Amino acid sequence: MASQHDSPQPGFRDKELGEVIAEQEQIFLRRQPGSARMAARARGSLAGGVTSSWQITVPQPIWLSHGRGSKVYDVDGNEYVDLHGGYGAALAGHAHPAMVEAIRAQAGLGTHFAQPTENAVVVAEELSRRFGLPQWRFANSGTEATMDAVHLMRSITGRDLIIKVEGGYHGHHDSVQVSVTPDPGDVGPAHKPAQVPASSGIPAAITNLTLVAGFNDTESVARLLDEHRGQVAGMIIEPIMMNAGIILPEPGYLATLADLLHAHGALLTFDEVKTGLTTGPGGATALTGVRPDLICLAKALGGGVAIAAVGGTGEVMEHVASGEYEMVGTFNGNPLALAGARAMLCEVATPAAYERIEALRARAVAGIGQVIADRGLTAHVVSAGAKGCVVFSPDRVRDYRGFLGIDDRYSHAHWLFQHNGGVFLPPWGKIEQWLISVQHDEADIDRLVGNFSRFAAAMSS
Ligand SMILES: Cc1ncc(COP(=O)(O)O)c(C=O)c1O
Repeated sequence: MASQHDSPQPGFRDKELGEVIAEQEQIFLRRQPGSARMAARARGSLAGGVTSSWQITVPQPIWLSHGRGSKVYDVDGNEYVDLHGGYGAALAGHAHPAMVEAIRAQAGLGTHFAQPTENAVVVAEELSRRFGLPQWRFANSGTEATMDAVHLMRSITGRDLIIKVEGGYHGHHDSVQVSVTPDPGDVGPAHKPAQVPASSGIPAAITNLTLVAGFNDTESVARLLDEHRGQVAGMIIEPIMMNAGIILPEPGYLATLADLLHAHGALLTFDEVKTGLTTGPGGATALTGVRPDLICLAKALGGGVAIAAVGGTGEVMEHVASGEYEMVGTFNGNPLALAGARAMLCEVATPAAYERIEALRARAVAGIGQVIADRGLTAHVVSAGAKGCVVFSPDRVRDYRGFLGIDDRYSHAHWLFQHNGGVFLPPWGKIEQWLISVQHDEADIDRLVGNFSRFAAAMSS
C-alpha cells in the first residue's frame, strides 16, 4: 500500500510499519486457507472472484459461512465479533429472533406481488414519526433511493444541475459518481473543486451536471448557487459524512445550507443511507433538527433484507402522487422487505436498544481513547450512535481535503490486527467505520479495545 508519508507520526514508529503489515498479512493468510480456496474457485465464475468490487479485500477476500448474534464465522471456522455489519446494514446483528420470525412468517404468505400490502403503511407511518417527513415510497437499494431523489429534485424544479459534496458517496448511478474519492492530484483548488468522474463509464455530459462543494463549507455552495443562478435543482449530502471515516457537520452548517438552497429555489436531500437508524431512531435529521426536503434510507432499514425508502415533504411527494414523476420498480414495496423493515422498526430498533448501543459506544470510545492517551498516539476516535472509527490524525477532520492527508497504512495495520484478533471491522482502511448492533455486548467491545491495545503496543515507540 503506497504512502505519500515518509516520516512516522508522533507516537508511532514508522520504520517497521511495512514489516508489521507484512507480518499481520501472513498471519491473516495462515488463518484462512478455506477462503483462499473459495477465492481461487470463485475467480472461475465470478468477475474478480467476488459479488461486489468492494468485497475484494487485501490480502484476500474473506468468505463467510454464517452469522449469529453479534458474531460472524468464516469458512475456516474462525469467529469474529462483527463490527463490519455488512457495510453498516446489520444493525439488528445476525439471525435476530424477531427478524427470523418476521421473514419466516412472510415467506409462508408469499414473497412478491407487486401490489401494496398493509406493512407498507405501517412502515411509512413509523418513518414519518421518526424522521418528520410525511410521505414515503420504497425502493431496493441506497443507489435507487438517491437516484430517485436526484430525479425528483430535477423534476420539481425543472433544472438540471445538482450539487454534491467532495468525498461524498451516494451509490453508483451516474449523477452522483462524481468526486467520490478523487486523487489529491485531481481535486483542483479548494475554492473550486474539480468534477472528477468516480469510475469509467460515466459520460462527461452527466459529470458536468454535478457541481462539487466542500463539506462544512457554506461559502462554496453560495458561490455555486450564484454562479449558476436559477439552474441548480438541489443538493444531496450525507448530513454526517460516513464515506470518509466520520466527519461531523459543524454547528449551523446544515441549517445554513437549507436556507441557502431554498433562497435559490433549490431543494435539499439528506442521504441517510448510512446515518438513518444507526445514529439514532430518527437519524441525523432528528439529531440536527434540520428538516430537508427529501430523505433517503436503505442499509439498516430492512434489518438485513434489501429495502430502501425515500421520504419527502407533502409538496415534493405531490410530484410522485400526481404521476408527474413516475417512481417505479417491480420490487418496490416488496412484502418480504417490508416484513423485515416492520420488524426492524417496531421490534428491533427500540428505545431500549438505542440505550444499550449508546452505553457500548461510550465504552468503545473511552477504552480506545485511553489507549491513545496512554501511548501518546496521533489518533482520535469519532463516533455517532452505533457508528464510530479511529482517525489516525491529531486533529478533527472537517472535509475531504483533510481526510486525504491521513496516512491510510495505519488504518490497514489496525484492520489486520483486529481481524487476526477476532474482530471484523469493515475493510477499506480509513474510509469505513464500525457498526455496533443491538446484539453486541460489553465483551464484544472489550475485544475491540483489547485488540486496539495490542495494535498500539506493536506500533508505538
Ligand atoms: C451514504 C450512502 N448512500 C448511498 C449508498 C448506496 O447504497 P447501496 O449500496 O445500497 O446502493 C451508500 C452505500 O454505501 C452510502 O454509504
